[in-house]
Parts: sequence; structure tokens; C-alpha cells
Amino acid sequence: MSKKVLESFHSCKNEGIFAVSNDITMPESEVTTNVAIKNDLILKVARGEEVHRPPVWLMRQAGRILPQYRALRAKLSGFKELVETPALAAEVTIQPIDELGVDAAIIFSDILVIPEAMGLTYEMIEKKGPFFPKTIQGKEDVDRLLSGEDAAGELSYVYDALQITKKELNGRVPLIGFAGAPWTILSYMLEGQGSKTFSKARKLLYTQPVVAHALLQKITDTTIAYLKQKIAAGADMIQVFDSWAGILPTQQYATFAIPYIKQICDAIQEVPLTVFAKDAWFALEDLGQLDCNTIGLDWHIDPQAARQIVGTDKALQGNLDPCLLYAPTSAIEKESLAMLKSFGRQHIVNLGHGVYPDTPLDGVKCFVNTVQSYTYSDASS
Ligand code: CP3
Repeated sequence: MSKKVLESFHSCKNEGIFAVSNDITMPESEVTTNVAIKNDLILKVARGEEVHRPPVWLMRQAGRILPQYRALRAKLSGFKELVETPALAAEVTIQPIDELGVDAAIIFSDILVIPEAMGLTYEMIEKKGPFFPKTIQGKEDVDRLLSGEDAAGELSYVYDALQITKKELNGRVPLIGFAGAPWTILSYMLEGQGSKTFSKARKLLYTQPVVAHALLQKITDTTIAYLKQKIAAGADMIQVFDSWAGILPTQQYATFAIPYIKQICDAIQEVPLTVFAKDAWFALEDLGQLDCNTIGLDWHIDPQAARQIVGTDKALQGNLDPCLLYAPTSAIEKESLAMLKSFGRQHIVNLGHGVYPDTPLDGVKCFVNTVQSYTYSDASS
């Protein structure tokens, strides 16, 4: 069993924000008790405890699949305004809890706030995605970056969003905080945008490995400081996204990715932690050795094969193909149930990657309802 122990109660400390406790609105500084989490299925599974049914949430659940998100987003100057306005970020974080009834909330933000806090601002270009006007060219650029507490200190809007969300959730479900894994963040800092080949990022590992390690260490130090502040602000659980894990060869992943994820896992002991390294089936054995509670799986990996490699001391998360949610509801029910049976217990249900923005809401709801109607005794019948 992992050594991580959950603290179900969080202390929220920021001044100037008001909290509701026992139906009395009072200044935050006077709040002495915090609200217990009513639906803590996801935390239980992460800690290896028994549950009657698996919990379910979706990566990218706070976003364009929801009409209420699109309506709010249309009134704003852009994605960054939403991310950087804590009350609005809190509002869209809670939308999928109201609309879909999922078993966890994930704070509305982006992995790219970390490179920005370190000194590389990003733009989110409509219908294209992220763009960094300045990128890392060499050692001097890495030396100039902020890191650790100094960089994490730039992100108070994220911590404020967590505190507001936590209060507004009022203990309905746990709140997940997240960050990108160092390799994925390095990729954006080198490429400046998405890429088919990620050749600038991969080239750095072969041509300037010392610079690559220095950059990865700065990102790691910043990420640890950032996640600790997210936990202090109310995150009940953490997920690390290594979205571009699958573009590295096995040896490069072992050298330039795993050691930095390991530092994050070792440093974050306050709450359960999930590592989701997309398309990293080749690294599953190494990922299984990390001191984390849950391993996220994309849809390429067979659940039972993954369980054999990871062993029994971790939960697994995933891994339905997001495209299944475009299918008729009868197919969604059938395939979701097959997945549930294949994983068995110690399973946090999710897709194998973020839900696609044009997914029909009925398909998403069918998936969530199918999981929530299932109980583990079904498996033995
Ligand atoms: O609901 C949630 O999961 C929480 C919010 C969340 C967002 N981004 C909001 C977002 C999370 C967890 C992320 C993480 C993220 N961001 C990742 C890792 C997960 C993954 O998908 O692999 C990555 C690689 C990014 C970087 C990023 N942000 C890209 C490539 C894009 C453009 C692609 C796209 O989906 O449009 C974004 C923009 C983004 N981040 C949107 C949302 C809701 C869409 C922006 C909009 O509303 O216009």
C-alpha cells in the first residue's frame, strides 16, 4: 500500500476571502473547522480502500463539452481571462459537477501557467492552441528563468481559484489540482507550440543534455512549490500530466522524464497523487515503481496487462477511448461495462485522454450514469 495518507480536511488560509461555515458567513481567519467531503470515493480508491462502486470523472470535463462553459467563454476576451479570474475559474470548475454529477472536480487552469510563471508567456490562439512568442534557445535562456518558490509565487490567481472552488463545492466532491510533467513542459518551452515531431525538444536531449537537465530541474522545483501551494489552497488530490511522454524512446524517457516525475512524487506526500503519462506503455514498469497512488492509462493499454505490470499496490485510472462517446448509447453502455469488468477493483474511471470538445453531452452522461449505476457485486453475478 502506498505510504500516502489523506487529510480529508484542509486549512484554507488566504485573507480577504469569506467562507461559509455552519451557515454563518465569517472572515476566513475566524474559520476553525472545514467541511468534510461527502463523496470521497475517488480518495478512497486512491488510498486502496474498499468502495461499493468505482468513481468517475473526465479529463477536460471543465470545458467546451458544456454549453454553460461555451456561453461564459463567449463573453470573455479569451481563455486566459477565464484562467486568470479566480471566481470565473471556480464557476467553470463546478459546472461539470452540476451538469454531469461526476465524482471529482478538477480546477480549471492549464499546465502552461508554469512556463509563464518561469518567464515565458503564452498566448492561447483561437482554434489553434497555445503559442509562446519567446522560446528557449540555449543555456543563457535557461539561466534567466525564475524557478522554485519565486516562480510559484507568481500564480496566486490559481491558489485563489482553488480556495473559492473549495468553498463553493462545500464538500460535495474532492477537488483535483494538477500540473504538467517536466518533460511535457520542456517540450512547450522549446517548441513554442504543439508539434507533429517535437524535434526541437528531442534534439535538445541529444545535443545539449546538460542544458536539458538544468531546465528539467528548474521546472521540477517550480512544479513542486506550485503543487504544495495548490494543496495548501485546498487541492485534495494531484494529477501530473505527461501528455507528450509517448514521443520519447524508452531510454530517453528513463533518463529525462522518470527521474523528475519521481522527485515530484517523493515531494508530494500530503494528498494522493496520480501520474498520467500518455502513450507511455513502454515505461509502465518504471511508472509502477513511483511513490504515487494512481497510474493513469491511455486507451492503448489493456487494463489487465497494465495491472500485471504495475502490481496491486496502486489504483489504475482510465481508459475508455474518448471516441466511444460519439457512438449510440447502447454501445457506450456495453463498452463501459466491459471496461469496468476488465479493470476490476482499484479503478478510477476516466477516458484514456481528455474528452473531445465536440462530444455529444448525451454520450458523456450515458458514460457517467453507466459507471454510477454499477456496483461491484455485479461483477460476481
Ligand atoms: O477539465 C479539465 O481537465 C481542467 C482544465 C484543463 C485545461 N487544460 C483547460 C483547457 C486541464 C487539466 C488542462 C491540461 C492541459 N493543457 C494539458 C494536459 C492534458 C492533455 O490534454 O494532454 C495540455 C497538453 C494542455 C495544453 C493546452 N491547453 C492545449 C494543447 C490546448 C489547446 C487544445 C484545446 O483543447 O483547445 C489548451 C487549451 C485549453 N486548456 C482549453 C481548455 C478548456 C480550450 C481552450 C478554450 O476554451 O478555448
